[in-house]
Amino acid sequence: MSEMIKIFDTTLRDGEQSPGASMNIEEKIKIAKQLEKLGVDIIEAGFAASSPGDFEAIERISEVVKSSTICSLCRAIDKDILAAANALKKANSKRIHTFIATSPIHMEYKLKMKPNEVIKRAVNSIAYAKSLVDDVQFSCEDASRSDIGFLKEILAAAIEAGANTLNLPDTVGYVLPSEMGKIIKEISDFVGTRATLSVHCHNDLGLAVVNSIYGIQNGARQVECTINGLGERAGNTALEEVVMILKTRKDLFEGFDNRIKTQEIYPSSKLVADITGIKPQPNKAIVGQNAFAHESGIHQDGMLKNPETYEIMKPSDIGIIQANTLVLGKHSGRAAFKDKIKVLGFSVSEEELNAAFERFKILCDSKKQIFDDDIRAILNEETTHIPQIFSLELTQISANSSGKYCAALSIKRDGIEYSDCALGNGSVDSILKSIDRITGMRGNLKDYQVEALSSGKDAIAKVVVKVEFEEGKPAIIGHGIDIDTMNATAKAYICALNSYLSMKDLITDKTGTMCL
Ligand code: KIV
Ligand code: ZN
Repeated sequence: MSEMIKIFDTTLRDGEQSPGASMNIEEKIKIAKQLEKLGVDIIEAGFAASSPGDFEAIERISEVVKSSTICSLCRAIDKDILAAANALKKANSKRIHTFIATSPIHMEYKLKMKPNEVIKRAVNSIAYAKSLVDDVQFSCEDASRSDIGFLKEILAAAIEAGANTLNLPDTVGYVLPSEMGKIIKEISDFVGTRATLSVHCHNDLGLAVVNSIYGIQNGARQVECTINGLGERAGNTALEEVVMILKTRKDLFEGFDNRIKTQEIYPSSKLVADITGIKPQPNKAIVGQNAFAHESGIHQDGMLKNPETYEIMKPSDIGIIQANTLVLGKHSGRAAFKDKIKVLGFSVSEEELNAAFERFKILCDSKKQIFDDDIRAILNEETTHIPQIFSLELTQISANSSGKYCAALSIKRDGIEYSDCALGNGSVDSILKSIDRITGMRGNLKDYQVEALSSGKDAIAKVVVKVEFEEGKPAIIGHGIDIDTMNATAKAYICALNSYLSMKDLITDKTGTMCL
């Protein structure tokens, strides 16, 4: 029988720590459901004690995701562990993940604790977590720069206290693959079958994936990763790369298996990129837009003769159906639309289907050719239930002779329409100022991205904004799609505002929560 490699996804926790990727709870739920569909074994849904928003996200994900284990991170502190257990109450299968730093530099300067005090704290926390749930994971933060003798000492104590999984992070992305392999081999021989060994690698030197692979080859049976390699600084191990290495080089990983349905990789990558506004670089392995594009004539010739000449994986292996196919048009009916939704991998309620179909029909009036990505964008908006506190009714922009722009907008709240206008330096500035005047809010635009969803002069514009509504609090992401880029801009900004207002009391600055 094959030995299983567990895939532990931390897109919603370590991934969310990447700059500018703060997500709304509804968006996190959507990602969690997709991770479940992808076949992830453990979903680290957040850090319950870090903010009321994280707590609620873990609680809600625990209610809706039933075939993956749901996990919360916590420091080795009783109140964190209790918060994690409370947030996980409704999960079918739950895990508490507690950690403490074990490297000399972290213990001396960050924790200001002696090694024996660190062991004591770890043991107490694991034992407390174990009294609340069966499945406890313990991580030695900065393990790769820790003394191996000390690692053995603390891990033996952790096993004794009840830890089932022992995770060795390369927190600062420092070690080389050969070093990682050596550490994991020595610890694996030491731990034996007493616990599952896990690796968690950061990508500061571009080695996160290869270090994780060396981890597996030397005894790790759990890999921690994120979709698109999202994460703090240079990111974490990319889930899609590890999984496709295991699949493509099955010859070297004979006897190993995992639960990932690789056809869900591309939809997962797209969803995370759409929600966070962080797109993989075009040449990113597996999910980059050029990952399967063969430009050179020699390659194309070889591919036509036999795809295996230059292709080690098929686009369909990761769920790419066909790049941006022309799909439906003005005369397509509801049944064809419903069918297309299914092919694109969405499962929607009747209400969501009706709303999406209505938007599709409106789109058909202004755009002749509708592509897969257009449909995907509509569905993503219709299936993310951010409360519509404000909604855009009308946008009118004009430029005057002094080079100033004037935007007049109408926005609805509780069925009442409010209108106002503002002058600005350019159309975006005037639109956002006008929204601020109408809503009485003042957002600070931190990031603005616009892209065409498909080809053609009449392609739909997708705008993603990141807006800070309160100084020192994380910026909030907003999305808007429209044939008109300025309408998409207004919608994206209003979306960020709605997202902010719907979770205002749940957002806190997480800075500082990562230290003991
Ligand atoms: O990188 C790290 O050390 C972590 C731990 C908290 C698991 O993310
Ligand atoms: Zn990490």
